[in-house]
Amino acid sequence: MSNIVLIGPMGSGKSTVGAALARRLGRPHVDTDHFFVARNGPIPDYFSTYGEEAFRAEEARIVAELLDAPRPSVVSLGGGSVVSAATRALLKTQFVVMLDVTEAQAKARIGDAATRPMLTAGTSAPPIERWKRIYAEREPLYRECADLIVSAAEATIEDRAQTIIEAMRRDR
Ligand code: S3P
Repeated sequence: MSNIVLIGPMGSGKSTVGAALARRLGRPHVDTDHFFVARNGPIPDYFSTYGEEAFRAEEARIVAELLDAPRPSVVSLGGGSVVSAATRALLKTQFVVMLDVTEAQAKARIGDAATRPMLTAGTSAPPIERWKRIYAEREPLYRECADLIVSAAEATIEDRAQTIIEAMRRDR
């Protein structure tokens, strides 16, 4: 049985849906961003000291480690994980779910984006403007990796978790 891996843009609810899904399935939940912070400290500090390239390399190492879990788990990935070709190759062996989100939903969730340097570094523009550009760049990668795409219309966390469980059971 493989892991269930949640991917999607910043503000799509990967961490909250992942936690709900794990609870319903009785599986462990791990989140690459949380693991990153536990190991390296706050993401904005890491970005400003080492830059995005170093962040991506460390993120890809963490994703590989967490996907190699001793028990099938629910794994929530950071929004930019799919830019790594090595990560995309690993995802081929997992059950991968893309959480889609509308611009309005993302805007409400990211707020001032204080913990998300990709949306704030070097710009005074509203974070949602950067978000839109980044999402347009990455959307093909999310779609390429996904076995299931959960539509943005499934607004509640529990609806999204339920849709994933039903799709996973059909897929078996
Ligand atoms: C990033 C997304 C963030 C975090 C980092 C970079 C990105 O995770 O990994 O700030 O490049 O999209 P979330 O998707 O959980 O916000």
